[in-house]
Amino acid sequence: MSLNCKDLLGLEHLDKKDLQTILGSVKLFKSLFTRSVKKVPTLVGKTVVILFYEPSTRTRTSFEIAAKRLSADVVNVTVSTSSIVKGECLIDTGKTLEAMKADYIIVRHSLAGAPAILARNLSASIINAGDGFHEHPTQGLLDLYTMYEKKKKLERLKVLLVGDILHSRVAKSNIWALTKMGAQVAVSGPPTLIPAGIEDLGVKVYYDLDEAVKQVDVVNILRIQLERQKENLFPSVYEYVELYQLTKERLRSAKKDVLIMHPGPMNRGIEISSDVADSSNAVINEQVTNGIAVRMAVLYLLNPKRKNESSN
Ligand code: CP
Repeated sequence: MSLNCKDLLGLEHLDKKDLQTILGSVKLFKSLFTRSVKKVPTLVGKTVVILFYEPSTRTRTSFEIAAKRLSADVVNVTVSTSSIVKGECLIDTGKTLEAMKADYIIVRHSLAGAPAILARNLSASIINAGDGFHEHPTQGLLDLYTMYEKKKKLERLKVLLVGDILHSRVAKSNIWALTKMGAQVAVSGPPTLIPAGIEDLGVKVYYDLDEAVKQVDVVNILRIQLERQKENLFPSVYEYVELYQLTKERLRSAKKDVLIMHPGPMNRGIEISSDVADSSNAVINEQVTNGIAVRMAVLYLLNPKRKNESSN
């Protein structure tokens, strides 16, 4: 079984069958986690390069662990100490890594479309680990897998995304994938942080968070990305907290078994209160664990096809 593609650039262009193929493979990889030896030889002899132009804790570590559990050789490029600081362009960096026979390049970049540029110019498999406001496909996949694992369905599952939808690549990947899987997706946040026309994607908009949380099975809370805002899009953090922080009080009217998710890193006390983040409804650390299995599945299912590679 494999995906019929070299790269994973986003979830927008995957169809439902592709999503089912990936999600269906995750359980098998997760079953390895309880073994004393968690490694399998799937990617022996393959080289995975992790090229992050933006900070990361979860995604970088998770990809590294995933690739090592598949027995790949893993190289991390630290942008701040690489020739990128001397002005090397993205394509030249990519071609340099490919000349070293990288089979996979996992890239995070502040510019939407940077992974697509690499994918067009290289024969290594490119995996988007987050590009600007565009997509964060493996985060979307691990969110869906966690929802499915906990709620046993995605069809007609009611999922609410809360917060900075405008700047969130996680929101976009969630929306593309969840709507394709038949979930009912809603968003809630200040009007200035909700992209115009989002309803055209089949998404319901609630400006009143209290009203929204009553309706749903899952609340996926997004980080307020102050670093990506070029202007003040809400009057103050205090006001944001008053209107949009997910608190215990707000959850009193929610379903008892509502699932609380957050892709991380969390701003405790801003978009989520600490007691909610640490509550039994929260599955934030389980999302992280599932992220490794999801990334193993993606590495396994993609088809890196190097030009001039012998099939022997
Ligand atoms: N969720 C996520 O992308 O976290 P990192 O920025 O730590 O990778």
